[in-house]
Amino acid sequence: ECMEGTRQDILSEILDWTNDITAPNILWLKGYPGVGKSTIATTLVEKLRAIRRLGSGFFFKREMADSTTPRTLWRRTSYDLGRRYLPIRNHLVALLRADEDILDTPNVHNLFRQLIIDPLTKSDDIPFEHLPVVIIDALDECGGLDGQRSDHRRSFMKMLKGWSHLPRGFKLVVTSRGESDIENLFSTTSHHLVEVLAGQTANPNSSKDIMVFLDHQFVEIAGAYKSLPPGWPGPDVVRRLTEIAGGLFIWVDVIIKFIKQGDPQQRLAYILQRNVSGGLEALYSSILKVSFPSPSDEELRSFRAILGAVILLKTPLPISSLLPLLSIQSSTMEYICNQLQSVINCQGILQVHHQSFVDFIMDPTACPAGFWIDREVEHRYLARACLSTMNSGLRFNICGLKSSYIRNSDVQDLSSLVTSHISIHLSYSSHFWASHLAEISFDKVVHGYLWEFMHERFLFWLEALSVMKGVNLASSMIKISVTWLRVR
Ligand SMILES: Nc1ncnc2c1ncn2[C@@H]1O[C@H](COP(=O)(O)OP(=O)(O)O)[C@@H](O)[C@H]1O
Ligand SMILES: [Mg+2]
Repeated sequence: ECMEGTRQDILSEILDWTNDITAPNILWLKGYPGVGKSTIATTLVEKLRAIRRLGSGFFFKREMADSTTPRTLWRRTSYDLGRRYLPIRNHLVALLRADEDILDTPNVHNLFRQLIIDPLTKSDDIPFEHLPVVIIDALDECGGLDGQRSDHRRSFMKMLKGWSHLPRGFKLVVTSRGESDIENLFSTTSHHLVEVLAGQTANPNSSKDIMVFLDHQFVEIAGAYKSLPPGWPGPDVVRRLTEIAGGLFIWVDVIIKFIKQGDPQQRLAYILQRNVSGGLEALYSSILKVSFPSPSDEELRSFRAILGAVILLKTPLPISSLLPLLSIQSSTMEYICNQLQSVINCQGILQVHHQSFVDFIMDPTACPAGFWIDREVEHRYLARACLSTMNSGLRFNICGLKSSYIRNSDVQDLSSLVTSHISIHLSYSSHFWASHLAEISFDKVVHGYLWEFMHERFLFWLEALSVMKGVNLASSMIKISVTWLRVR
């Protein structure tokens, strides 16, 4: 959430818009990555909840592209609207009574029309001051790493256009960066624009907010060190840092984490000396250089394997399962996590703190050699890891079932047998090996593993999928491997 006292101008502009029946019903909060859009969206959700005007809040996440899709968005939104608004609930209940299967329709446009558009347009008896506001964060993260090429994203943008034809009282806030397809959409869709600028043109109010944030953080740091004077590091330094940040909240957020992680005075001096001009790329490069001053090839390899997995895995895994999947020592993992504390979160599940670091680390022109994550190389590493995990882990009757004549649904406590006999990384491998395979060109090692898998583990794999309720996924994975073997 926004720190107390920050973003007041933007929040009040948005709240005023929610009360303006003459304004377009879509508000686009636009800004460069790291200016603080998601944080504003989170705060808005809380503020609207407090005044009972929250329809629903949904946050697209690039790293969870498979679970944050237009389909999950609209299902969630209609559920929330139904929970909070009786007239909408009545329409939804009637709809689902008539046709429960609508939730599973493959056509997401139908879903949008039936779950959102129809119930909203029919609910014309909600008093104006209570009309729901829906918040959708990070349109640009819909579709994951595929970005503008993603079908999810394309169809979602069409539906946004549909929203603009709803009655004006049904307000929708969308946040995103200004990528070309999104710019195009809004150039022909009526909306209210709130732009948070960055760089040279950064809004003076943003800079004031950033100073408030820095002052607060430095008081905290100075409080933890008896040797630092209370006013440390002084208004001149705060002003200088604010200037360099150029409206990017993420920039100050990262330097504060970085400063807290070592000798504060030395680290602050290092930042000031190396980052004379702004930008996240320079900052991330200098953090990598201090954190890994003279990395060995082995260290770099582990760095790439870990970051590659964090970015490319289809669903996040706990650290304890990443270790065996990637064949990495726990001390190596600990070392890399420690060094990267200012950019990744390591509580149980590894997560990149902000998408701008993913952009940086996958951009060969920005990221220092050795640290760069090459998508294809890391997918290959993951495909090998999954196949070899399955080749060594899958076996006949993996759950030790007493008889094969009993249906899965009749086996007592099957789910706890699955948890105790199929490790998380083996389960991941069984579900997603083909997703990684689909991303790579021919590779001899992968081919060898795949051959062994098909000849020696195939039936055990089906059996494992079956007890995990995933056997319906098998045919599409087999198709992927057939295509892979043919084309490559
Ligand atoms: N108003 C704020 N108060 C405190 N911290 C903030 C504020 N806005 C942003 N931040 C910090 O900056 C980081 C980046 O902001 P975020 O909202 O993720 O940016 P965006 O969504 O525009 O990319 C956040 O993780 C948060 O820690
Ligand atoms: Mg964001």
